[in-house]
Amino acid sequence: MFKDVFGIEPTVSASAPGRVNLLGEHTDYNGGFVFPTPLPYQTHIEAAAAEGLEAYAENFRERKSRGLNEARQGDWLDYIAGCVWVLRRHGYAVPGLRAYIRSEVPMSGGLSSSAALEVATLRALRALYQLPLDDVRIALLAQQAEVEYVGVRCGIMDQMASSVGRLGYGLFLDTQSLQTRLAPLPQGYRVAVVDSAVPRRLAESGYNTRRSECEQACRLLGVKSLRELSPADLPRLETLPEPLNRRARHVVTENQRVLEGVQALEQGNIKRFGELMVASHRSLCDDYEVSIPELDQLVEAELRHGAVGARLTGAGFGGSTVALVEASRYEAFKQGVLQDYPRARFF
Ligand code: GLA
Repeated sequence: MFKDVFGIEPTVSASAPGRVNLLGEHTDYNGGFVFPTPLPYQTHIEAAAAEGLEAYAENFRERKSRGLNEARQGDWLDYIAGCVWVLRRHGYAVPGLRAYIRSEVPMSGGLSSSAALEVATLRALRALYQLPLDDVRIALLAQQAEVEYVGVRCGIMDQMASSVGRLGYGLFLDTQSLQTRLAPLPQGYRVAVVDSAVPRRLAESGYNTRRSECEQACRLLGVKSLRELSPADLPRLETLPEPLNRRARHVVTENQRVLEGVQALEQGNIKRFGELMVASHRSLCDDYEVSIPELDQLVEAELRHGAVGARLTGAGFGGSTVALVEASRYEAFKQGVLQDYPRARFF
């Protein structure tokens, strides 16, 4: 607890959840549609005002401090320092932070433990220094901290899911306008998050390559973002060189799957939603090439053992899968998947 480490009581506390993405992968940095949902796992922070930064991470049993003008160091404190840095950059009078962090969000599984830490930190800073920030602004600041201070070129999905998502609801998000709509998750079903236990090693380089391939496709097609394209443009994409044609096809078809999937869910057509999850995985595997054999095996095992839909979730190259399973079949599903893929970890 804060008091054990710093010897005084904290002034504020805040939390923010991790997320799992149900549909709409690698579309957020293309101005497209996504459909994530928050997880029942949160990052908690207790905090007090300070000059400079001092923080304790319970998960690492580690205390660290940093001056306000010091650069990133490639550690967990970067995420907190980035939040203070981004607020100061926007002119807010934030002299520093003393914080105690405890996270329930599994790390390195593609479940947005970093977005949860950023959003929790910004919520604590908002309360501490009475900053006039709404939840969308918090998400945008969190993303800016991650891109410009931490140095990871992510989209806006994770921070929006953590900041404005609601447990038990899918968050339909248009990443271009930042408009959102909450869609209740179906009753009687469970969202199973299953980690492949393969660390996402190539994720960063692969992610950046995909982003530049999309930018290249835009240049050749003369559009600002792939969001401008619809299924009617699919024949045009065939004129692009390999693999840009397939990269663009994934983004265009994935946007369509999100639109159709949210509508199917709202109409109670769970079976269709499941089919679209499976189609999304195929597209991520064949066209976008961000899957790995282990993720394919895990998704196949999940479908074999009763999931109505399953796919890799997050950036890919390892990490987790998401499956939709009837609640009454969940235990049998879990046992079956574990038999076929013993390393699977269920969240
Ligand atoms: C990571 C990024 C997100 C998004 C996904 C892929 O999770 O942080 O912004 O691009 O990959 O859909």
